[in-house]
Formats: sequence, C-alpha cells, structure tokens
Amino acid sequence: MTSKTLFEPYTLGSLTLSNRIVMAPLTRNRAGPGFVPGDLAAEYYGQRASAGLLISEATQISQQGQGYQDTPGIYSQAQIDGWRKVTNAVHTKGGRIFLQLWHVGRVSHVDLQEHGAAPVAPSAIRAATKTFVNNGFVEVSEPRALALDELAGIVNDFRQAAANAIEAGFDGVEIHGANGYLLDQFAKDGANVRTDAYGGSVENRARLMLDVTAAVVEEIGAERTGIRISPISPANGVSSGAPQAQFDYIVDQLDALGIVYVHVVEGATGGPRDVAPFDFGSLRRRFNNTYIANNGYDLDLAASQLADGKADLFAFGRPFIANPDLVERLRTRAPLAEFNPATLYGGGSAGYTDYPAIAASSHP
Ligand SMILES: Cc1cc2nc3c(=O)[nH]c(=O)nc-3n(C[C@H](O)[C@H](O)[C@H](O)COP(=O)(O)O)c2cc1C
Repeated sequence: MTSKTLFEPYTLGSLTLSNRIVMAPLTRNRAGPGFVPGDLAAEYYGQRASAGLLISEATQISQQGQGYQDTPGIYSQAQIDGWRKVTNAVHTKGGRIFLQLWHVGRVSHVDLQEHGAAPVAPSAIRAATKTFVNNGFVEVSEPRALALDELAGIVNDFRQAAANAIEAGFDGVEIHGANGYLLDQFAKDGANVRTDAYGGSVENRARLMLDVTAAVVEEIGAERTGIRISPISPANGVSSGAPQAQFDYIVDQLDALGIVYVHVVEGATGGPRDVAPFDFGSLRRRFNNTYIANNGYDLDLAASQLADGKADLFAFGRPFIANPDLVERLRTRAPLAEFNPATLYGGGSAGYTDYPAIAASSHP
C-alpha cells in the first residue's frame, strides 16, 4: 500500500488541489455569438468543480487560431467577461481551473478564417483530417506556410491570451502543444519541412513551442504555466520520424523554463496507449515539476501508476462528460454513466449540463 492516494490534496505550484484527478480539456462547440462562453458553460464547469484541477476546452488565441465552429476564444473583452463567469462558478465551489490556449494551425477551414483566407501551417501540407464546420464534418482546407516574420506575432498572440486568461480569473494556462495543432505541427517532421530556424533539426522544430512557452512564462509566471504534449499521437494527421529524441529535448527545455506541469497524452489521443514504442518514463524523469498523465486511464490504472511514481496527477477526458461527479464515483467505485455521442459537439444543455450526479440520478 502506498501512503499516496488519488483522493488526497496535492500542491501544484502555489495552489492546493483537493485531489489528483484532473478534468482533461474537452471541446464542446457551444460558444455563443462572438465565440463567447455563455451561462451554460459556467454551469457545466461548475458541475465538475470537484476535480482537483479542471482544464478548459481548447480556446483560440485569435481568429486565425480557430479550426472548428462555435469554439470559444480569449482575445476579445466579451470573451474575457464570459470566461469570468466560468472561473467564478468553479472557484465558488472550491475548484481550480486552467485555460487551454489553442492555435489550430492547418486544422481549419476557409469559412472560419478572416476574409476566407487559407489556414496557416509550418509548411503548405494539407492535413489528412476533418474539421467540424457549418454543422458537419468536412475536410480541412489547403494551408499556406507561415513566413518567418509572422511567427513573432503568433507568439505574441499566445502571450496576450495568457494575460487575458488571468484577467478572466483563471488559475493558470495550459499551452496546447498536442494533438496535431500548430505547435505540434512545427514539432513533427511529417508536417514541417521548413528550412529556416523553425524546421529541420530537433532544436529548430521545437523552437516555436519553446518561444511560446517562454513568452507565456514571462507574461504570467512559470507557476501558472503548463503545457500539453502528445509525442506519439497521430491525431489530426501528424507524424514524427524520431519522437523520443524530439520530446526528450522539448521536455528538457520545458524543465529549464520551470513551468508548473507537463500534461502528456500517452499514446494515440483517445485510442491505444501503445500505438508506437515510446518511453514516457524518460519524460517523467527529465521533468522536475508536476507530470500529468492522460489517455485511457481508469481508477485502477491511475492508482497503480501513482503507486509506481509514474505520474503525479491523472487527467480523465471522456469519463467527465457524463459524470460531473466523477471524483466521487471513482472514490466510491460507483458505476460510471456513458455519454451520448450525438450531443458531443454543438447544441444546448442536452448532453452537456443535464448529466446528473449519482445521488440525484438515484432519486429522480
Ligand atoms: C469530445 C472531446 C473533445 C476533446 N477536446 C479536446 C481539447 O479541446 N483539447 C485537447 O487537448 N484534447 C481534447 N480531447 C482529448 C481529451 O482531452 C483526452 O486526451 C482524450 O479523450 C483521452 O483521454 P480519456 O481516455 O480520459 O478520454 C477531446 C476529446 C473528446 C472525446
């Protein structure tokens, strides 16, 4: 028996989390006009505030960074004000919440871009993936390669978005470096064939992710900065010839920046954990601060990985959709409800805020 359990408090930087269960970021496509999160979002996150830490759905840092319909932003005052309702709802219930900062890069569609422009990417290589736009799934648009002198502007958009997140009351931010979006596209050679300082070598392909992280740290402090990576996930059509060397280097550099956590999607996002050979223990050993593990965890796997020292916190994604009281259900080994796939993306309260907590569901 270990003295550590999933259900005891954990210190994350200057925050005390009530347990080691994290709500993973989950896109739900329910933002209102102007890509502003509404009252329903505040209710939804508030219902899940018993997680030790909540990570918001991916939130675009600019219009260029948007890739799906009705996802929220963090670049206008109205968006900041909308998010403040969410952070208030979570904090009122004693929860903690980070905002996930998102630039989708090439995973977008001309209908979402200003003046119907092409989405941007490290290189003009179209992703073999779909996006959700005009109420349906369609192929992403052909991207254009970003010019070298545009990259500072994107770094600055991340920096400003981090400042906006703090203004909205978030406890910190999670840079989205995972799942085939912009920063992951730069890191992986299947999407990046640049020949400048942002392509080619391991160091060059890591550069944009690290520039962004350094800028966010400078803006809001390392204690409030986390990042998500997915070294071997083929999500959204990315691939990497040598992910171990790439991500060992990235994590060494993230450690040097002193950020509060790395959040690692172990395997194919939402798919097999053993999709390719990779030593996640190597990342764990390289990083001195908090390691959050995700992907396909259940109670027993999380408890055994914790006992073995393989991670500090465990992020659950899909189980939080239909189980707002997931922590209590795990603690009491109560049955988990299944979510309805038809109401994942878009819509209103159905399949969003109407999944009951277990006490309520047993007393209708
Ligand atoms: C509906 C849905 C939306 C998701 N949205 C995001 C997102 O916005 N950002 C992100 O990094 N991952 C996102 N993911 C991936 C999850 O955070 C998580 O990595 C994945 O579901 C695997 O964890 P699980 O096995 O606990 O569900 C999403 C997954 C699902 C099912």
